[in-house]
Amino acid sequence: DEQRFLTAAREGRIGSLLNVAFDGVKVDADGVYQEDSSQFFAKDPERTNKLQREAVENSRLGIPLLFAHDVIHGYRTTFPVPLAEACSWDPEQVERSARVAAIEASAAGIRWTFCPMIDIARDPRWGRIVEGSGEDPHLQSVMATARVRGFQGEDLADPESVLAAAKHYLGYGAAEGGRDYNTVDVSERTLREIYLPPFQAALDAGCGSVMVAFNEINGVPASGDAWAVRKLLRGEMGFDGLIVSDWGSIWEMTRHRSSVDLVDATEQAIEATVDVDMESYGYARHLAELVEQGRVPEQLVDDAVGRLLTVKFQLGLFDEPYIDSSLASRIMVCDEHRTAAREMAQKSIVLLKNEGDALPLAKTPGKVAVIGPLADNAEAQLGSWLAAGRKEDAITPLAELQKRLGDSVRYERGVEVEEPASEDSRANETDTGIAAAVALAKDSDVAILFVGEHDKMSGEAKSRSSLDLPGRQIELVKAVHATGTPCVVVLMNGRPLSIRWTDQHVPAIVEAWFLGVEAGPAIADVLLGDFNPGGKLPVTFPQTVGQVPLYYNHKSTGRPTISKYLDIPNKPLYPFGHGLSYTTFDYNSLEIAPAEPTIEDEITVVATVTNSGDRAGAEVVQLYLRDVAASVTPPVLELKNFRRIELAPGEQQRVAFTLTPKQLAVRNREGEVMVEPGQFDVLFGTSSVEGLKGSFRLQAE
Ligand code: BGC
Repeated sequence: DEQRFLTAAREGRIGSLLNVAFDGVKVDADGVYQEDSSQFFAKDPERTNKLQREAVENSRLGIPLLFAHDVIHGYRTTFPVPLAEACSWDPEQVERSARVAAIEASAAGIRWTFCPMIDIARDPRWGRIVEGSGEDPHLQSVMATARVRGFQGEDLADPESVLAAAKHYLGYGAAEGGRDYNTVDVSERTLREIYLPPFQAALDAGCGSVMVAFNEINGVPASGDAWAVRKLLRGEMGFDGLIVSDWGSIWEMTRHRSSVDLVDATEQAIEATVDVDMESYGYARHLAELVEQGRVPEQLVDDAVGRLLTVKFQLGLFDEPYIDSSLASRIMVCDEHRTAAREMAQKSIVLLKNEGDALPLAKTPGKVAVIGPLADNAEAQLGSWLAAGRKEDAITPLAELQKRLGDSVRYERGVEVEEPASEDSRANETDTGIAAAVALAKDSDVAILFVGEHDKMSGEAKSRSSLDLPGRQIELVKAVHATGTPCVVVLMNGRPLSIRWTDQHVPAIVEAWFLGVEAGPAIADVLLGDFNPGGKLPVTFPQTVGQVPLYYNHKSTGRPTISKYLDIPNKPLYPFGHGLSYTTFDYNSLEIAPAEPTIEDEITVVATVTNSGDRAGAEVVQLYLRDVAASVTPPVLELKNFRRIELAPGEQQRVAFTLTPKQLAVRNREGEVMVEPGQFDVLFGTSSVEGLKGSFRLQAE
């Protein structure tokens, strides 16, 4: 209850709080971690100030509290889920999204967010793929930088700035089988080349904190991994900011069975230089005794405390610990924030297929059948991790289409997202639902199907073994398609789905993910042609789950053509970087200079991109490199740079990228990062499989 927190603050027993702070005993007599009732503080500015006052004015040392929350894609104004935002390949827009989230969160007293999540995800079964920016280290790094800048602003002391936390360190996305929290066993090479670069980027952007992951890495849980945390992160990478555990992850080391009890786990965590114990209560209960027994040097505790105090100083909490409690009501979901959310949502949409220019719909599309369980599901479109987001703020596609097209829009849900096929009564209901949808489609000029996943099917602990459309949705798609009425599929989901049948039969497919409060308007903008989609995939879409893990920057193997399955090709359904537009872009005149570069040179790669269609549009120009042969096996392709450009019809632009020696380097067999002479192939393209091809040969000198 609130009184307990007020007392604890007064007694100086709280340093920072997650705003959903669990109340009561967390660890029982046997050392077992328990969760019970929850309390909200930071969502209510008045209560935040009240609690802060106890700490600042009535505690012995007067140290202000730090309020934290998972502000992942918007605070009250829910933005697209991070994976969707990454489809924009537009770091400025993503930074703006994080900035709005920071402005709203800080108005509620929150000055620390557990964001950005920058785990590389190569397995879409893993539900947390939705929280990050996909499979590529470069794109993930660019988005990490954008979000850190958005949250932290120019200066942490600005009352609108929120301390960011890069998470989850390290390798969390490599969970075996895509099962959340599962074992991670990846080589040091892959950790360094694939999983670490986004963390380096976040630190370079000034990210003030890092969260260690739940998982073990090659035998040691991250929360107690002195190699990964103390040696690599603090030592090699030079990070001297705040490190926080994940929720209960210190205690969970006893479940990993790499520590005998919470005391042992606590010792390992502080030795690894984890500063804040989130919800294991190991530090609160056992650090003092560990120091008294001489098992933990007092200096380690002082260092951890020092880092937390430093952050509180940097945030200006000692100067201004309180918030203006009238601010929140004035700015939450204000017009400006909604506009930012709508622009972000528009840019997050990916046009996966558009045969025969099925989209956009005609200006007067006639009778429109809106069908499917996600057309009018305000909750689902917000996605996982809602900070203070509310479904009441969300505009659904159905509501927006009805607003714009009036009575010509009629709706049938058809089926639920998920339902147990075995239950006869439900199955009958579904048959009736499908029949009603078919009848509506038959009596319409166009059918728009909104299918996918609901919000609770992705996110933490939400792994799936299948990537198919859940429930009986595919039956609905097939039945509506069979009517012969032209149809369009809009996907709303949190991970790549295997939608082979849909791709083979339905002419137009729009990937809309979970776009937040403005999903309806943004989707309608795209369907009706008021916004020309330009998003590109930050993840590979497999044809079937059996291809997973399937990612564009894989290795060659010794038998590239016969390393395959008997029953499916190796090709993805949609490759990394794929995304169409209502206009077309031509690429030509690729030039690489200098003609004979040495290992010390910067190399310029330039080509002309022309909007050859009759609509204005945005194109994400992507630069990939293939190191033809190196001392260690190189990936078949690596994204090195990209730029989102906007072109009017007929307009052309010379797009130039610079490749630095660092971008050409490999980590050789001795672990040294070196530029090696030899041939490099260049793909200057519209996706990871299409574009202009060139090459250059690096000379030793
Ligand atoms: C998640 C973190 C999150 C934390 C606090 C954990 O379960 O793994 O990503 O920041 O909870 O809510």
